[in-house]
Formats: sequence, C-alpha cells, structure tokens
Amino acid sequence: MAAYTTEKSKKAFDRALGLVAGGVSSKSRSTFEGYHPYPLFIERAEGSRLYDLDGNEYIDYLVALGATILGNANPEILDFVSGEMRKGSFYALPFELQLEVAEKLIRHVPSFERVSFVNSGTEANQMNIRLARAFTGKNLLLKFEGCYHGWLDNTCFSLSGVSAERLGTPNKPNKIPATGGMAAHAGDDLLTLPWNNVELLEQTIQERKDEIAAVITEPYMCNSGCIPPNDGYLEAMRELTTKNNIVLIFDEVITGFRAGLNCAQGKFGVIPDLTTVGKALGGGFPIAVYGGRKEIMDLIAEDKVLRAGTLNANRMVIAAAYATLGILERNGGQVYDHLYRLGGKLMAGIRDIIDTLGVEAIVQGLGPMFQIYFTKLKKVENSRDSAQSRFKVHHDFIWRLIGRGVFPRPSQMGEFYVTAAHTDKDVEITLGVIEEVLREMRDQNALGGEA
Ligand SMILES: Cc1ncc(COP(=O)(O)O)c(C=O)c1O
Repeated sequence: MAAYTTEKSKKAFDRALGLVAGGVSSKSRSTFEGYHPYPLFIERAEGSRLYDLDGNEYIDYLVALGATILGNANPEILDFVSGEMRKGSFYALPFELQLEVAEKLIRHVPSFERVSFVNSGTEANQMNIRLARAFTGKNLLLKFEGCYHGWLDNTCFSLSGVSAERLGTPNKPNKIPATGGMAAHAGDDLLTLPWNNVELLEQTIQERKDEIAAVITEPYMCNSGCIPPNDGYLEAMRELTTKNNIVLIFDEVITGFRAGLNCAQGKFGVIPDLTTVGKALGGGFPIAVYGGRKEIMDLIAEDKVLRAGTLNANRMVIAAAYATLGILERNGGQVYDHLYRLGGKLMAGIRDIIDTLGVEAIVQGLGPMFQIYFTKLKKVENSRDSAQSRFKVHHDFIWRLIGRGVFPRPSQMGEFYVTAAHTDKDVEITLGVIEEVLREMRDQNALGGEA
C-alpha cells in the first residue's frame, strides 16, 4: 500500500495563498481552526466519503459542517436540482416551488407560521434579531457564551474557546469580541451570559426586562462541542421570555432537520417565537430560513421591517430544499431512525473504548451529532466547561484519525456528524480506527497536558 501523503493538497494550498486571502474562504477551513499546516483539498465527495487531491479516501464526519445530511452528492437531490435549473436558475421573481417548500417548513417546524428565505444562517439570524427589536420596541439582545449565530458584529462576542478567566464572573461576564474590525460600539446592544444557568438568566431578565428585545440561543449548543440543555432550562427560558415580552429566538442552523424533522424545538417540546434553520435544510446547497409567529412576520408583510437580498430564494436552493425535505419526511421521517441509531452506536462504541483504555474523556451528543472532550469533567454544561478540555490533545487525536481515513472537523468547537449515507460498516471501521488511535496516544503518553 502506498504511504499516506497529502503533498498535492500542500501544493494547492501554496498556490491558494497567492490568490485567496489565507488560502480559504472561511475561518473554519483555515490554518487557525485546526487545519494546520494546511487544509486538505477535496477532489470529490460521494455518499459517506471524501476523496482528496492525493486520492486518499475518508469517511466523512465533517459533513460540510452539518450541511450534507443525506450524504455527499446525493443523486436524488442533484437530479432534481439540475432538472429545475433548466427552467432558469434565477429570475428575482417568485415561482411556485417556493410555496411547496414553505408549506413543508410550516408543517414540520412548530414555530413557523410564516417564513422567508435567505442564503446563510448569518443573514437569517440578523433578520430574526431585527424583527424582535421592531416587534418589542426594545433594543438589547441577550446571547450565550459559546453560541455562534454568524459572523456579523452584533452577535460575534464570547464565542467558543474563550477561557473562564477571560470571561470573568458568570453574573457580570466580559463580552469578548471575536475579531478585529468590529464597530467600536458593536457590543453595546448585547448582553452575554453563560449557558444552562436558570438563576442567572432569571436575574438578568428581571433586571433588564424593559430593555431586552430578544433572547437568542441554540436549543442544543453545537458550537462549543455538543452540549445538551439541562432539564427544564429551555422551558424556563420560554416562560421567562413570554412573561416579560421578550422574543425567544431559537437558532437551529445546526439542529434544524438534524435533531429531527420537527427540529430541536419539536424534540424538546419548547416552541420559540422565531426560528432560524439552515445547513441540513439545503442538503449541501446554500439556503437558510427564518420565520415564526405571524404577528411578528407581519412586520415584513406590512413593510415596517426591511427585508432584502438579491439572491434570496433562487431556484437552485429552493429545489435543493424541496428535494432534501422530500427525502427527510419520507415514511414518517424514517431516515432519523437511521441517523440516531448510527450516531448512538458511535457514541456508545467510543465510550466503551474510552472506558476500556482508561482515557480521561467524555462523549456528549444527540444522535446524529456528538463530540469527544478530553477533560476531567463528568459533564460539559457550557462553553466555560468546554474551554477546559485539552484542545491540543483533541487536535492531535483528530489528525491521527484523518491520517487513517476518518475525517471529523479538527476543532473542539464543532462535532462529528453522521448522514443518511453512513453505514454500519462505516461505524465499525471508524470505531476500529478510534480504538487504534487512542491506544497509540495512551501508549505514547499523548493524552495529557493543559487545555
Ligand atoms: C448555530 C449557528 N448559527 C448560525 C450560523 C451561521 O450560519 P452560516 O455559516 O450559514 O452563515 C452557524 C454556522 O455554523 C451556526 O452553527
């Protein structure tokens, strides 16, 4: 067997550095977020597999950061999209297929009474935030440390990976800006809090209820690894926001159509006022949707809130969402049985390996998405906890997996995703590779150290 090499990716990256800033078009693919010293260039992808420029084959757990829920190059989606595209990819005028997609969305997502289409989760969240301010006449946005709602200034604070030391005391946390170049007062309209703490939430809402327009949260935190809401947390959030005329926004860009056909809100039985979905909805095409209660969305219908976007609801992405939803809803959403079974099998298998080898690590997740934390903690409840895990060990672990043909996101912030195209055989191979890697790391004393 030829030795594993990624020389062609290296060459391509060297070329890219002279053309594209930093060689890639998003930080999540960059040398700064796990792809050190260079990202692998992908030649093609099919089903549960990725193939890089050097011809290496990988079982894909990156899954386009959660987007390709039905597997890579799903033929049913591609056939439908290409057929629809022959009718013209874009007119900046409505067409009926949008209505079919909107009907499906309203049928499946409990909070959706009206929806609107955009091309990214970032944009969709911006519209939900704008709507909440217009609806309540209030200004402040409350977000949680470690949640990510897109890359724009007003939410880009206290993202994953910031230590508790920098974040300061939980009841008076520092807002840590994620980037240079933000508006000087970008954080003025924002409050941040640690997640999964009802007392702090209640106290903050009591103190600032007349100013808080919206609380925005991922209902299952997926941007600091994979963190479930504590029992009663989402319910408390719902009650406190309802009582105080605050709009509750669930950012389901990751959990939407991944946690289930009715999204995380359906799974947990907590219905927000506004919701954002993206990623999985497009099955690999760039679409996102925002929407919710009719009386809030009517602000758009009455032209009291500006909604714009040249590329919104083009035929390509609408067709992709139509085909994707059509498959997801088939036979009463049977595909979710497969996603949960395989995800569950992986999590259980990894926990067994960890126990058998005596590795200090935990696995957290919800069926088709999970993360491994190399930590002393028994449970990670918020991003302050996740920041205590050994990032360097995680990085080393993931790259050893990649070198053996298993490709998760090389970042503690993300998670492993499974798709409809993954098989029991994939799981078996993956568990074998994970066992081999963890045994090797244990024997080399490579599992310890600081975060
Ligand atoms: C929860 C969540 N919200 C919003 C976004 C931003 O979506 P997009 O990258 O499509 O702009 C992401 C992206 O990862 C996300 O995970």
